[in-house]
Amino acid sequence: MPKLRALLLFVLCALFAATLSAQPKKASKPAPQTVTSKAGGKFVGSKACTSCHQEIADTFFKNPHNKSVVSGKEPPERTGCEGCHGPGENHIETFAEPGTILAFAKIPKQQVLDTCLKCHSQTLSRANIRRSSHTVNDVVCTNCHSVHHAATPQKLLAKTQTALCTGCHLNVKAQFSMPFKHRVNEGFMSCTDCHNPHGTFQPTWANGARPRHVETSKANEEPCMNCHADKRGPFVFEHSPVRVDGCMACHVPHGSANSRMLTRPVVFTLCLECHNGAGNLGRQGNGVKVQSPTPHNMANPAFQGCVNCHVKIHGSNAEQKYFR
Ligand code: HEC
Ligand code: HEC
Ligand code: HEC
Ligand code: HEC
Ligand code: HEC
Ligand code: HEC
Ligand code: HEC
Ligand code: HEC
Ligand code: HEC
Ligand code: HEC
Repeated sequence: MPKLRALLLFVLCALFAATLSAQPKKASKPAPQTVTSKAGGKFVGSKACTSCHQEIADTFFKNPHNKSVVSGKEPPERTGCEGCHGPGENHIETFAEPGTILAFAKIPKQQVLDTCLKCHSQTLSRANIRRSSHTVNDVVCTNCHSVHHAATPQKLLAKTQTALCTGCHLNVKAQFSMPFKHRVNEGFMSCTDCHNPHGTFQPTWANGARPRHVETSKANEEPCMNCHADKRGPFVFEHSPVRVDGCMACHVPHGSANSRMLTRPVVFTLCLECHNGAGNLGRQGNGVKVQSPTPHNMANPAFQGCVNCHVKIHGSNAEQKYFR
């Protein structure tokens, strides 16, 4: 019975392959070879692969995955070549007939993910990989990592990080070429200073509204605090949007034509988004609604440079209106 079933599966696969190759565009390519019932057999150990895959085997000692070989403590299904490619007996016995070994370039993306996560489900730092927009959009481990032909020996990235990310996110590369920007294109910092490519959880207020793979700092704050610690506070006199809405209430993170990477070209137009005198955004004291900015005459240019007077705009320990 199992033989019959295997045969049936094989016929189905062959039929599927035939329909694919019948499509005009794909006709020139060989039909995709998924892992079939021909794959498998016993585990034979990494040494058995060396004779035919010399080039890969020769450099494998440098690969972080060689650790499991060296330690000698792991079971066969979690060590060496077969830890990823599955048991190699049938592959070798048949002299490498197509479809006899798990080939990452040919299996569905979901299966790539599952194969790598067999070992890495716990080792990715603070990642929420299954729900990340990369996974949801079929961008998986092998889109970013190359196990045998890595450009970076550490982390096994397929290209150096900035080139890797901007290769797909072209618009972001342009944002980092704006007049006011973080120096990512220059190599001074990298995407992963603020993002987790493996997906994030959403523990901060700001991340709840804007997940975007934005990493949190160790204290579950916005990643900005890792470098701009002086903006963290707590301040005696907080400017509440800094803490509540987050940095992106006033700044764009990548780059901008506006100085200080502000969301608006002129400072006072930014402030007036909230301090427009309407509603009760102004201070409420003694039951009297103080409409802000009350004493300010906006027709007078002297009042338009708001941060000339309210200098400690992110919060102050000395003065309620952030004058110092
Ligand atoms: C007898 C020689 C031989 C041995 C031993 C051997 N292989 Fe292969 N392997 C081949 C040949 C030939 C190919 C086909 C190369 C091609 O199609 O370009 C191949 C292809 C592969 C592929 C790519 C398959 C694909 O469909 O693209 C993988 C992965 C692979 N081998 C892994 C292994 C592993 C792991 C071992 C050890 C368990 C191993 N091989 C042992 C000869 C061998
Ligand atoms: C960590 C998982 C992993 C381990 C361990 C691993 N491989 Fe691979 N292998 C891959 C992936 C992923 C690819 C697809 C190409 C890539 O990403 O570089 C691949 C591709 C291949 C190919 C196809 C040809 C090529 O260069 O792409 C061969 C052959 C191969 N591996 C053989 C081996 C052998 C031999 C070993 C042991 C010395 C081994 N692999 C160990 C993940 C692994
Ligand atoms: C969108 C690209 C991308 C995808 C998809 C991706 N990675 Fe990564 N991964 C990276 C980058 C970039 C780093 C380096 C981070 C750094 O330098 O801090 C990394 C780092 C790692 C590390 C080192 C530990 C860590 O968390 O920093 C491991 C292990 C890893 N990735 C495994 C995987 C596995 C397994 C998958 C699939 C389940 C995967 N990655 C998917 C880009 C990616
Ligand atoms: C059999 C278990 C196993 C499988 C399957 C596996 N890995 Fe690994 N991986 C490891 C181990 C163990 C390490 C070494 C961790 C260390 O340095 O302590 C490692 C290291 C890495 C690193 C380097 C981490 C660093 O900090 O530099 C990356 C990247 C990575 N794996 C990606 C992958 C990808 C992509 C796949 C799927 C193609 C994969 N792994 C499949 C066990 C595995
Ligand atoms: C293979 C192409 C590819 C690579 C490489 C890649 N991404 Fe992505 N990324 C995507 C796709 C597709 C999406 C989901 C669609 C979208 O929102 O643009 C996405 C989504 C994102 C998002 C979330 C966007 C949102 O609106 O929620 C961020 C942030 C991101 N990627 C950052 C990175 C970083 C950082 C790297 C490098 C470590 C990277 N990406 C590498 C293709 C890629
Ligand atoms: C200084 C921190 C920082 C750096 C560095 C950074 N990002 Fe972002 N990125 C963010 C934040 C914060 C957001 C969310 C913005 C929002 O939702 O308002 C974001 C949003 C995104 C988005 C989704 C929105 C959009 O504009 O499409 C993508 C994609 C993205 N980043 C990719 C990248 C890539 C690729 C790199 C590296 C080349 C990178 N980021 C470097 C902080 C950063
Ligand atoms: C890895 C460290 C790092 C992280 C993380 C970081 N920054 Fe920066 N930031 C810098 C440095 C360094 C500068 C100085 C300007 C330069 O690089 O040319 C800067 C400059 C700025 C400036 C002033 C730009 C100007 O024109 O003077 C603003 C605003 C800013 N960052 C906001 C943010 C925000 C918002 C975040 C979080 C999304 C963030 N930063 C995350 C390092 C960082
Ligand atoms: C209410 C709006 C607002 C919010 C929210 C805000 N900023 Fe700013 N930020 C400004 C303004 C306005 C300037 C320009 C000040 C100036 O030119 O004197 C500025 C300037 C900066 C600068 C450059 C000058 C300096 O003081 O170092 C950095 C860095 C910066 N902000 C980081 C941040 C970070 C990090 C956050 C989140 C914790 C944040 N900002 C939240 C309005 C804001
Ligand atoms: C995202 C909305 C928002 C933006 C943008 C904003 N603020 Fe505020 N600001 C507030 C809120 C909310 C308060 C707290 C009001 C309260 O305590 O009732 C506040 C408080 C203040 C106060 C202290 C008021 C008091 O009575 O103590 C000053 C001064 C101030 N902001 C100035 C500015 C300036 C200058 C800018 C532009 C650089 C600016 N704000 C941008 C929301 C904003
Ligand atoms: C010439 C200095 C100066 C400039 C420029 C200035 N302010 Fe003020 N601002 C003050 C003073 C002084 C007070 C305190 C008034 C009081 O206590 O009655 C104040 C108070 C405020 C308050 C507290 C609410 C209130 O009515 O007491 C807000 C909000 C405010 N300013 C926002 C702004 C905004 C927005 C701008 C830019 C459009 C701006 N300020 C420009 C000096 C200035």
